[in-house]
Amino acid sequence: MQMDDFLQKLTDIIWERRKITSPLYQIIMRGEATLRLLQNFVIHRYPIKNIYTRNVMGVGSRIEDHKLRRLFVENVYEEETGATTNSGRHVEIFLTFGEYLGVPAETVLNTPLLPETKALVDFNLNACNNTNVPIGDGAASVLLLMEGQPPIVNKNGNSMESVMRDVYKLPRKAYEFFTHHASSNGDKEYVSDLETTHTSAIVEVLRRYCTTDELQQSAIRSLKTAIDLRHKHFDAVYENFYDPNEPVFRYSELSAEATHGD
Ligand SMILES: [Fe+2]
Repeated sequence: MQMDDFLQKLTDIIWERRKITSPLYQIIMRGEATLRLLQNFVIHRYPIKNIYTRNVMGVGSRIEDHKLRRLFVENVYEEETGATTNSGRHVEIFLTFGEYLGVPAETVLNTPLLPETKALVDFNLNACNNTNVPIGDGAASVLLLMEGQPPIVNKNGNSMESVMRDVYKLPRKAYEFFTHHASSNGDKEYVSDLETTHTSAIVEVLRRYCTTDELQQSAIRSLKTAIDLRHKHFDAVYENFYDPNEPVFRYSELSAEATHGD
């Protein structure tokens, strides 16, 4: 396949089953998530986010060219420290979101993985961190899939960040994670500005390493498997923890309850 056709094919596969096609993200973006669903969203998304830097390092460590490898180091450095955006370690900012929902970090760290989450964690580690797997597999199926997502927007073009702020009424510190990760509205190509920079480095890896038909097919297969596993993981969160009979979550009501008792 021509390189540009190959890259377009990966983009199309990601687009077809982008996050907002999953019932989990649809219910959150419609503003109809319950407290229990959002709490479990944090608990069960955390393990995937937590291994992400190891996935980036796994791919990055195999790049010979310093200039390109450096971009992966910078990506990981920002993820692990928040230094370039003057924030904090990204997964910790995600844990802060959980704390505002009443889930202590300890609970997030100690909850056993759902089988669907474990399957995805195992897949991602193997694709990126097993040096017997072609580097393009991990770059396509984990890194491009995560960073190359189109913006998560609902019908009105609102971002995850704006829904957290305007609909669920969370305070700024609570939704900060989404300011860095899912703040683009419908007019942007990628999910946030940070991700746009990261994506170009990943695309460069694909250009340099997926140079044969065999390697391209392997990357495509790997991406399709990853998307299947990811949607099974999203669906598990939705099916296990969403009950439409429970009230929709609004932060103001939660804090009133916590302050005044019942
Ligand atoms: Fe991040």
